[in-house]
Amino acid sequence: MAVRSLHVSELSARGFRNLRGEPLRLGPRFTVLSGDNGQGKTNVLEALYVALTSKSFRTSKLSELLAHGSREGDDEAIATVRAHVIEDGSPRVQTVALRKGHRLVKIDDKRPASLAEYAVQSPVVVFHPGELSLSMGASAERRRLLDRVALYSAPVALDSLGRYTHAMRARQKVLATRGVGASDLGDWEALMAEHGAATCEHRRRAAEKLGARASKVFGEIGSPGMALSVTYAPGGPEEAEELRRVLAELRPADLRRGSANKGPHRDDLALTHASAPSGRSAFSTLAAPLPVALHPVRGTASQGQHRAIVLSLKAAEIAEIGAARGVRPILLLDDVSSELDRERTRALFSFLRAQEGQVLLTTTRPELIDIARSDERVDYTVCDGVLSALVDG
Ligand SMILES: Nc1ncnc2c1ncn2[C@@H]1O[C@H](COP(=O)(O)OP(=O)(O)O)[C@@H](O)[C@H]1O
Ligand SMILES: [Mg+2]
Repeated sequence: MAVRSLHVSELSARGFRNLRGEPLRLGPRFTVLSGDNGQGKTNVLEALYVALTSKSFRTSKLSELLAHGSREGDDEAIATVRAHVIEDGSPRVQTVALRKGHRLVKIDDKRPASLAEYAVQSPVVVFHPGELSLSMGASAERRRLLDRVALYSAPVALDSLGRYTHAMRARQKVLATRGVGASDLGDWEALMAEHGAATCEHRRRAAEKLGARASKVFGEIGSPGMALSVTYAPGGPEEAEELRRVLAELRPADLRRGSANKGPHRDDLALTHASAPSGRSAFSTLAAPLPVALHPVRGTASQGQHRAIVLSLKAAEIAEIGAARGVRPILLLDDVSSELDRERTRALFSFLRAQEGQVLLTTTRPELIDIARSDERVDYTVCDGVLSALVDG
């Protein structure tokens, strides 16, 4: 499939966090935002992410995005972000307006049929320092990764997940207020089973595609002799009837726990690495393959291996989303050099250059950004929410 070009030429934000001033004009390839901490660099990336997806990558509470206004608890406060997008030469304007508890999205002044339809228009992938939790932290980040990938191959996946979550909360409320014998529990469980099974199906497919790509990338950038395996680890029965049966059986336990013990809300992506037993090289001529030890990466991988695993997963996300949508995703890199040494930063940039899509990145140390200043690169400084173009001196 031919890969279409995609880039954002201009981003404007009003009433969004601390951002003020003129719209940002982005370069078609690299845009570098530098500035001290706390000036608004991440806010710019977040504004672009919201404009393209209607969601934030750092909070699920959209009201946090509204600029702290003069009046406390102002219900009329509104934040608007707008991106001028060019896909294969055709321009469009994507706008997201936020008001306490509401979200209005538009593509060229028309409202799309659903938020999912809006969110798949202009694929965007973020890397931020918190991303290390993908390999080391709790399962929520990995579920979000699966859901982002699932969304692009089947936008309806977002709908299944939303309905499952709604039914799950309603059931828990019934359990807590009216106990395990309440007559409508069965109806909620039927809904959980139906939409939960659909969610599992989308996630299993996403995990398979993502896993195959991540293992391949890890083979290229990871340690020699190590292999990464990425598989779907369902948090309950994947089949609707079985999930429904288990939910009914676990009512007392779920009431005690305060939440459902089984179901896709507890899904995970199992990350294991396989290494040959030590001394392998001495026996490598043996005809029978030696047993391979499988370890969960949590607790056993080194810091460097965790970074390689995260980079493999992100590279897989970019490739899978790009393939599903037929365009190269826009990449947002937050604080790239804060944690990386010169060597790793260089490795990251050789990876990025190979991606060929548009990249917007922030840094407190522009001297580490190993991309020539040229027509390929546009530089800005961010100070107290205001962007200024940096002219080469
Ligand atoms: N809702 C908000 N309204 C106004 N200012 C905000 C809001 N949320 C965060 N800020 C301000 O944004 C700044 C942090 O921006 P951020 O983009 O995280 O900085 P950095 O340049 O370090 O990435 C802080 O000064 C913070 O007070
Ligand atoms: Mg920041």
